[in-house]
Amino acid sequence: MEKKEYQFSFEIYEAIGALNNEDSLLLCEAQKITEQAYAPYSRFRVGAVAILANGKKVTGTNQENASFPVGICAERVLLSVASSLYPDIPIQTIAISYRDDHGRSNHPISPCGICRQSLHEYEQRMKRPIRLILGGMEGKVYIIAEAGSLLPLAFSSDEFK
Ligand code: THU
Repeated sequence: MEKKEYQFSFEIYEAIGALNNEDSLLLCEAQKITEQAYAPYSRFRVGAVAILANGKKVTGTNQENASFPVGICAERVLLSVASSLYPDIPIQTIAISYRDDHGRSNHPISPCGICRQSLHEYEQRMKRPIRLILGGMEGKVYIIAEAGSLLPLAFSSDEFK
């Protein structure tokens, strides 16, 4: 028997003010774009903003549907926008924020399982890691160097080779 260990580490910042200017601007933009979420059912508004390798920014917000499973998370909306507008340009960093109906949230959330799978494939496709900045409207901020590290032993297109 062989035992393998998987190590995961990430950075924790006390607040958005502890980030460098570029990161704090990106997270601010993610906080702001939560306004554009369509989340009448969960009332949980998620906003994501990415900076690409060409310096362009793209955004995504969660888009729900009365048929609940049809709804799409902010992260996958963002990846679809990025892939449609700039199919060959890697994503450098994505900032993700969220808030309730009263505009409040006080800790980071991290992408759901389906979004982790999508982020992982985007990284593989572009051969570049996607950095994540996770933070609420206030509170601590997490920085994860590589989105794919959130999905150990991920399923991938290698299986079709
Ligand atoms: N949601 C996201 O947009 N991103 C996540 O990482 C987690 C959940 C959305 C899906 C749904 O519209 C609402 O948040 C509540 O689950």
